[in-house]
Amino acid sequence: MIAHSNASIRSYHSFGFEISTNYLIEIESLDDLQTLFNEAPANKMLSNPDGWMVLGEGCNMLFTHDFAGSLLLMRIVGKTLLKEDALYVYIEAGAGEDWHSFVRYTLTQGWFGLENLSLIPGSVGAAPVQNIGAYGVEVEKYIIAVRVYDVIDRVEKTISHFECMFGYRDSIFKHQGRSRFIITHVLFRLEKHPNPVLDYAPIRERFYQSGMDAPHPLEISDAVMAIRRSKLPDPSMIGNAGSFFKNPLISMKAYDRLRSLYPTMPGYVFEEGIKVPAGWLIEQCGWKGYREGRVGCFDKQALVLVHYGGGKPVDLLHLARRIRQSVLDRFEIQLEVEVNIIGESL
Ligand code: EPU
Repeated sequence: MIAHSNASIRSYHSFGFEISTNYLIEIESLDDLQTLFNEAPANKMLSNPDGWMVLGEGCNMLFTHDFAGSLLLMRIVGKTLLKEDALYVYIEAGAGEDWHSFVRYTLTQGWFGLENLSLIPGSVGAAPVQNIGAYGVEVEKYIIAVRVYDVIDRVEKTISHFECMFGYRDSIFKHQGRSRFIITHVLFRLEKHPNPVLDYAPIRERFYQSGMDAPHPLEISDAVMAIRRSKLPDPSMIGNAGSFFKNPLISMKAYDRLRSLYPTMPGYVFEEGIKVPAGWLIEQCGWKGYREGRVGCFDKQALVLVHYGGGKPVDLLHLARRIRQSVLDRFEIQLEVEVNIIGESL
C-alpha cells in the first residue's frame, strides 16, 4: 500500500479540475484494505472530516472542492477464467482493470457480450456502481456477482446479482453499499456464441449500408468505438464525465402533452413510462456548443458538460444549474444528475 499526503488529483479524475486530497492511497490487494481498516479509527488516514472514498479512474465524478479525507485509488488487477461450459465462460476481473482494455481482451478471447460497451471510460470496479450502459446494453446483463470488502464487518463478501439491485445507472453501491462495500472484483458470465444487440439505429445502419447482417462482435466493438469517438469528447483531451444528467422518464400523458407542443420530441417506450433524451431537451434550450469561460456544453452531444482546463468546479456547477432550470422552465421536466457530485449538491 502506497500513501501520498496532500496530493493533487487533477490527473486522477476526468474533469481535470485542480483538486487536492489529504491522502491518496493506492490499494493493490485485499490485504491492503484489511491492513487499512483493521487500524480504524486509530488510523489518521481514515479519521478526516470527509472520511474516505474509492476512486477508480475518476470518470464519473465532480469534486466541488478539495477532499478533506482519503481517496483510495483502486489498483487491484488480474483476470481469471473461473469455469466454462458449452455456452458460457465465467470470468473474474480485478476492480482496478481498465474497462475498455478488459472489453477488448474478452472479445479477442472469443467471449462475447460486452462489445456494445466498448470505449466507456473508467475501471471494471466502476462498471457495476452505475450499471454502465450504451447502445442497448447495460452491464448488469453480464454480471453474476461482485466481490467486495465490507468495511463494517471487516470481511470479504460476495454480493449476488440480485443483491446488487441494479437499475438505470443505479445499484446498491450508490446507496446502502456506498460507504460500506469496496468493490475488489467483478464476476462476469460471457457468451461463447455471438448474440449481437443491434437495436441502436446508428449501429444497425452502419452494418446495413455495408451489407453485413451478422457482424462479428469485434466489428460491433469497432463500430461502437467509431460512433463514440465521433460524438463524445475524449477525457484525455477535454475534461468531462460523459452524460452529466440522466435521461428523464416521464408519463405517457406528459409525453403526449409535450409532443403536441414539440412534434419532433423523441421518446423511447419503457414499462414505467417514456424516456426522453436529456440531450435533446438541453439542445432545444439552446445550450449545445455554449461556452462560458473555461466550461461549456459539448457541441456534438449536449448531455456532456466539459471543462477546457484552468476552470473551477463551481463554474461547471453554475452552468449545470442554469441548464437544469431552463429545461424545467420550458418542459416542466426536472433533470436528475448522472455524475457523482462530491461536496456541494446541484
Ligand atoms: N440528442 C439531441 N441532441 C444532443 C444529444 C442527443 O437531440 O445533443 C437526441 C437525439 O435524438 C439522439 C438521442 O438524443 O438520437 C439519443 O442520443 P444518444 O444516442 O447520443 O444517447 P443519449 O441518450 O444522449 C445515452 C447514455 C450514454 C450512451 C448513449 C448511447 C445516459 C444518461 N446516457 O445517451 O451514456 O453512450 O445513450 O447508448 O443514459 C454516459 O452514461 O456517460 C453515457 C455517455
